[in-house]
Amino acid sequence: MSFRTTGTTSAADYVEDVSPGSGALAPRAWYASSDAKSLSLNGRWRFRLSPTADAEDETFAGTGYDAGGWAEVTVPGHWVLQGDGAFGAPIYTNVLYPFPVDPPRVPTENPTGDHLRTFDLPADWPAGGGAVVRFDGVESCARVWLNGTELGEFKGSRLAHEFAVEHLLRPTGNVLAVRVHQWSAGSYLEDQDQWWLPGIFRDVTLLHRPADSALDFFVHSAYDHVTGEGTLRVDSDVDGRVTVPALDIDVATGETVTATVRPWTAETPALYDGVLDTGGERVPLRIGFRTVELADGLIKVNGRPVLFKGVNRHEWHPERGRALDVETMRQDVLLMKRHNVNAVRTSHYPPHPAFLDLCDEYGLWVIDECDLETHGFEQQAWRDNPVDDDRWTPALLDRAARMVERDKNHPSVVIWSLGNEAGTGRGLTAMAEWIHGRDTSRLVHYEGDADCRDTDMYSRMYADHAEVERIGRGLDGGTHRRRHLPFILCEYAHAMGNGPGGLADYQRIFEDHARVQGGFVWEWIDHGIAHPTLGYAYGGDFGEELHDGNFVCDGLLLPDRTPSPGLAEFRKVIEPVSVEGSGDGTVRITNKQDFADLTALAFTWVFRADGETLASGVLPVPALAAGESAVVKLPRPPADAPAGAETGWTVRAVLAGSTPWAPRGHEVAWGQIPLTARAAPSVDRTDGPVVGERLITLGPASFDARTGALRSIGAVEVTGLRLDVWRATTDNDDGSAWQADTRYGERWRTLGLHRMRHRLDAVEADDDSLTVRTRVAPAAAEAGLSTVYRWTSDGNRLRLTVSVTPDGDWTVPLPRLGVRFGLSAADTVTWFGGGPGEAYPDSRAASEVGRWQSTVDALQTPYVRPQENGARADVRWARLGGLRIDGDPEFWFTARRWTGEQLDAARHRTDLTPGGTVWVNLDHGQHGIGSQSCGPGPLPRYWLNVAPAEFSFVFSAE
Ligand code: GAL
Repeated sequence: MSFRTTGTTSAADYVEDVSPGSGALAPRAWYASSDAKSLSLNGRWRFRLSPTADAEDETFAGTGYDAGGWAEVTVPGHWVLQGDGAFGAPIYTNVLYPFPVDPPRVPTENPTGDHLRTFDLPADWPAGGGAVVRFDGVESCARVWLNGTELGEFKGSRLAHEFAVEHLLRPTGNVLAVRVHQWSAGSYLEDQDQWWLPGIFRDVTLLHRPADSALDFFVHSAYDHVTGEGTLRVDSDVDGRVTVPALDIDVATGETVTATVRPWTAETPALYDGVLDTGGERVPLRIGFRTVELADGLIKVNGRPVLFKGVNRHEWHPERGRALDVETMRQDVLLMKRHNVNAVRTSHYPPHPAFLDLCDEYGLWVIDECDLETHGFEQQAWRDNPVDDDRWTPALLDRAARMVERDKNHPSVVIWSLGNEAGTGRGLTAMAEWIHGRDTSRLVHYEGDADCRDTDMYSRMYADHAEVERIGRGLDGGTHRRRHLPFILCEYAHAMGNGPGGLADYQRIFEDHARVQGGFVWEWIDHGIAHPTLGYAYGGDFGEELHDGNFVCDGLLLPDRTPSPGLAEFRKVIEPVSVEGSGDGTVRITNKQDFADLTALAFTWVFRADGETLASGVLPVPALAAGESAVVKLPRPPADAPAGAETGWTVRAVLAGSTPWAPRGHEVAWGQIPLTARAAPSVDRTDGPVVGERLITLGPASFDARTGALRSIGAVEVTGLRLDVWRATTDNDDGSAWQADTRYGERWRTLGLHRMRHRLDAVEADDDSLTVRTRVAPAAAEAGLSTVYRWTSDGNRLRLTVSVTPDGDWTVPLPRLGVRFGLSAADTVTWFGGGPGEAYPDSRAASEVGRWQSTVDALQTPYVRPQENGARADVRWARLGGLRIDGDPEFWFTARRWTGEQLDAARHRTDLTPGGTVWVNLDHGQHGIGSQSCGPGPLPRYWLNVAPAEFSFVFSAE
């Protein structure tokens, strides 16, 4: 039997309607009134999940409906992150739509969450006036009723929607009903690289609107850098007065007034408190005077070009997804400021408005990006892309207007972005035209506009160093219009797992070429989801049919907001002051800020010998203006510096006083100026090997007589010392699928570097050395590494010299080159060398030479997907487990409670269980890290090319 229903319209037709919705009020500025009442409707809501958009009828929205048997969820929240799996699960895809591409239709299986909340008006809720209910963010489509009357429906997940409700409100027993569909036509416009997370994930608020309350208003506050005057005009839908006490301003709305002001910049975020009084309501204003313009082919603020040292920020919390509280937002802003970040791109949607308040307050340049991405259409050569189909243009314009109107009064927002990875089309042009017409005080960005038809800057993502350099020199071609525009990298330096490498090399190019106005690291935080057994979950961990694995964990912060080594590196690379030693007893200090002078900073110095501080003091540095530099004399080295010691100065720039974002003394920049170099460790060959039946002894060490394998040094047992060339591939080693021919991880594995065999050729004892000859090579390949271990001793200390001679056909660099061995007991590690954190050849700017101490556990960087991590650079000597190891030359030091192979096999942190052995790697070389998980690999100068090598370590038992 078969049947068809034809010609029927479903009550859920709006779900697949390309229009933005119906019933909502016009978009307007988002603000918190000083005196109009409001009622938060956040909290526990009744919740019922259905499998399809129209499985349940609408009776639940009527008053008197008994939802007593329903479950509950917290609003703001995503239902898939609540209910312990009872409400479905998150899905992670980068580009792909997790449903058939059949716009604007979505699957019949369309998880639909009915939300119910009853509320009474507070006793002091004023009689009369209007009222609106505001939804700050609902994914992806909602239909709303109050007390049984439908208010409307909307799409545009990360945008505010308001409905007039005064005619429906009752003193008590109000029932707000919201039906939320996971999938809708809007989902086609929201294909950002992130988890798909349905729900009412931002605040729901009831706002009283007194008679003569402010409706919408636009604060125009410019700054003339020539006269030092600010110009203020507040255009308001409802007439009123604007007062700014600190500036003696008291004018009517619509009137222009000027005053001498301190300008707003990200470095000096001067805000003036004001009030817009419309008679019925007072609205607090926080006014920042600044002028953004495109002049001389550059993005200028207050007459000066700015250099963006930015990050891309998705909203993320490991338990609550994109439902962020203000404290978490503040934590993001404080972490950014403390790490010298000066700009944020709100990838790829307008953030919670409170985040922009924080950017105004603490000082960050913001690219506010519209909630728009249609990346999945790339799979079909962009056919049917909504941004090139007029039927969708009203939805696009609605999104543009909802962003601009909501956020237009934030001085921190200097650029509007049309969206991300949406191809090209008429709809984008329409958005750009509308934005340019509505707001002439800001610039427009969109990365996909290669010819810059609609935009005010040329923007790219992941361009490699060479290309950025060409762009900087103006040698990149492009349309006439593009050639005369400034350039930014809206995304670069893919911070997935270990890395990114190459930040310092980018920064040099940014600083060398005026046209290149900086970039935004991808991205701020890993979107790992806290998971009871996996630590942090990523794509695939919820059984998704299509997913992109741990590509969702590519941030400078781990999911719990612990800064990763990548953030420490970024902080150093973008420091606002440079400290460069010239080796002649002076130091050059350069103020690399765009606006502020150095009065906020104090400079200190220390003089160290072999890492021990001998003297310290304050370094007088003039209050250099932005861009200026000066050569300052360093204090003389102390007379008691021990002869033969490695000596030098470390100079730091710290906050001279507390700021809203960090306490006095917080370090913003530093530099080291070496004076004398250390002497390489030497060991006289005064002892010789003694060959016994089962053991060979040499100085403090014993070896297996048959294999030549080291057994002990003094009382310390040592296992498995041999050459190691493998590292658990990093996300950047593995690269991304679209870079198939250069992916190191795969090439290394194909050659078999993770399964090297060690053939013993000879064990030779002569008068003053023990020599073990081997050939290290993978099965099935002719390429190999002839490796000779030569041991000598002066009776107390033991020197190992490793000589490596490659043979055969080597076509890839090595992951690492060094020795590895096991110690049965080791916990605390002390070292003299680079620290305190992890470093690799192209991510070592933040590595400061000094004396450091750590436990073995604390040496690990807990990347969400386990991979090579934790190396310390330039180590002169390290002590652990009763041994002291001196390097000749300096080495890379790593110690962990599992082998590299175990690390390589682990998929989550919880797969790693400490064994009884601490595995120590002493590396002569490491391959660079790069950023090939999405962008370019390491620059050739950081490759660990296969070549003859010799390096030594001196061991002593302590
Ligand atoms: C970009 C995209 C981002 C993110 C990144 C890779 O192409 O704009 O949203 O997917 O690549 O992590």
